[in-house]
Amino acid sequence: MIKVVVCGASGRMGQTIGRMVNESSDLELVGGINLKPGSFFGIDIAESKNAESLLQSTRPDVLIDFTIAHAAVGNVKMAARNRVALVVGTTGFTNEQKAEMQKAIQGNVPAVISSNFSMGVNIFWQLLRDAGKLLKDYDIEVIEAHHRNKKDAPSGTAKTILQILDEEAGSRKKIYGREGMTERGNEIGVHVIRGGDIVGDHKVMFSKNFETIEISHRAYDRSVFATGALHAARWVVGKKPGIYGMSDVLNLGK
Ligand SMILES: NC(=O)c1ccc[n+]([C@@H]2O[C@H](COP(=O)([O-])OP(=O)(O)OC[C@H]3O[C@@H](n4cnc5c(N)ncnc54)[C@H](O)[C@@H]3O)[C@@H](O)[C@H]2O)c1
Repeated sequence: MIKVVVCGASGRMGQTIGRMVNESSDLELVGGINLKPGSFFGIDIAESKNAESLLQSTRPDVLIDFTIAHAAVGNVKMAARNRVALVVGTTGFTNEQKAEMQKAIQGNVPAVISSNFSMGVNIFWQLLRDAGKLLKDYDIEVIEAHHRNKKDAPSGTAKTILQILDEEAGSRKKIYGREGMTERGNEIGVHVIRGGDIVGDHKVMFSKNFETIEISHRAYDRSVFATGALHAARWVVGKKPGIYGMSDVLNLGK
């Protein structure tokens, strides 16, 4: 059995992951961590100030983090100190926070970090690489929509989309929404929608005179992210220290 601790256990993703670990036959839920203590699926949730003693008493194989950027950086450092493999789904990191995590992980533990654990989105990103190469002279717009409680914008998935477009279609200025008198240049327009309980929608539009090509993905249920995160948890245990992406887990190439 692979022993799992979930950070952000009381959150939307933490609850979905806890339920799916609890229902699986090869993963064992040994603890949860959140800002306040509690329990989930018959297991204790420790408050975050007691997280390290929870890790030391439960000795998990993998820590799965779906919290908030500043908390995730601390959790990554804690897991690295205790040689616990990592799956990090939290988004909204600054470049400095990414560098801090990389320093903590390198040489110490294996970690899968991805702004989106759904298999569909990882295939969507791959399709986008091909589209970006072929559609360099098209106008590009990126649109994403999420539930009203999402804290970071644009989404981590949209930021990965922009990075892929920079790599494949050439680096372009980004404009976040438009208002007033605007003139389209060679920028990428980025548009963020927040409302209700939208799980996660992403669309990239490539437009030229008389035609538009759209590539889009819609998640209907958080279980698609949780399924991918658990797949990554099974894969990461026993790997060499370093940072991996879902493309490594799914063997998708770059
Ligand atoms: N990579 C993916 O596939 C994917 C999918 C969905 C969401 N996300 C990201 O995962 C994160 C969580 O999303 P959510 O919808 O579950 O949010 P949420 O707000 O429902 O849950 C986050 C939980 O983390 C807890 N928390 C905050 N600080 C903490 C700390 N120091 N220690 C432990 N717990 C702490 C909060 O109390 C909350 O319960 C967000 O960054 C979101 O963008 C990623």
